[in-house]
Amino acid sequence: MTTLQLQINGRAVSAAGDATVLEAIRSAGLQVPTLCHLDGLTPVGACRLCLVVIEGHPKLEPACVTAVADGMVVHTHTPELDTYRRMAVELFFAEGNHVCAVCVANGACELQAVAVEVGMDHSRFPYQYPRRQVDASHPLFSLDHHRCILCTRCVRVCDEIEAVHVWDVGYRGSSCSIIAGLDQPWGEVAACTNCGKCVDVCPTGALFRKEDGSGEKQPHPERAHQLVEARTEHHWHNQ
Ligand code: SF4
Ligand code: SF4
Ligand code: FES
Repeated sequence: MTTLQLQINGRAVSAAGDATVLEAIRSAGLQVPTLCHLDGLTPVGACRLCLVVIEGHPKLEPACVTAVADGMVVHTHTPELDTYRRMAVELFFAEGNHVCAVCVANGACELQAVAVEVGMDHSRFPYQYPRRQVDASHPLFSLDHHRCILCTRCVRVCDEIEAVHVWDVGYRGSSCSIIAGLDQPWGEVAACTNCGKCVDVCPTGALFRKEDGSGEKQPHPERAHQLVEARTEHHWHNQ
């Protein structure tokens, strides 16, 4: 594998030829906020929080879906990026109903953590207070659409790791939402194996176990990567 040389925040960094800019940033011990990205799943560049400045590029680029190139010069934090990221997080809060105090994911929510990371203490955008559905038709799990940020992690983990494809993205604009099966109640989708992987990787309290009350959700986003690694390295071979 070719090794490429790039510069991130003034620091010389080596990266594998097939790495993304996000992987190069992390391998250099640096961080950018992410929400839709999850190690083990195909990156989609949906949340735009990982945008970085790449010198010579006419626009900001999402680090999670941008390939490294030799000689690339990357900046992960500039006043423009900091402002942009805070605004993006404020919009997430304003367009859903994220009432942390009564949310199952309070204290373990990646959206909450990112809000702290970007220094958001309130949203300057008018709250939309959307009226959305709560799908409690599954015997074990529920989906509260008010807390969904459309990161599509659930869609990808169910498709790519559980190989079932229960979830999809339906509708457009402000009606855009995650749908189960052929836009059915989740509990009516016979293909669901009840594995819980979608619940484990959901970064917010949108997907949760029915027994969980406020602040009781224990997400396990690391499991996607662990499963992919175990399969690739045949951890179960001859066991
Ligand atoms: S519980 Fe498993 S099979 Fe069912 S929707 Fe979630 S990831 Fe897919
Ligand atoms: S339900 Fe959770 S994992 Fe699925 S798109 Fe919404 S926020 Fe993301
Ligand atoms: S983490 Fe890169 S766009 Fe969401």
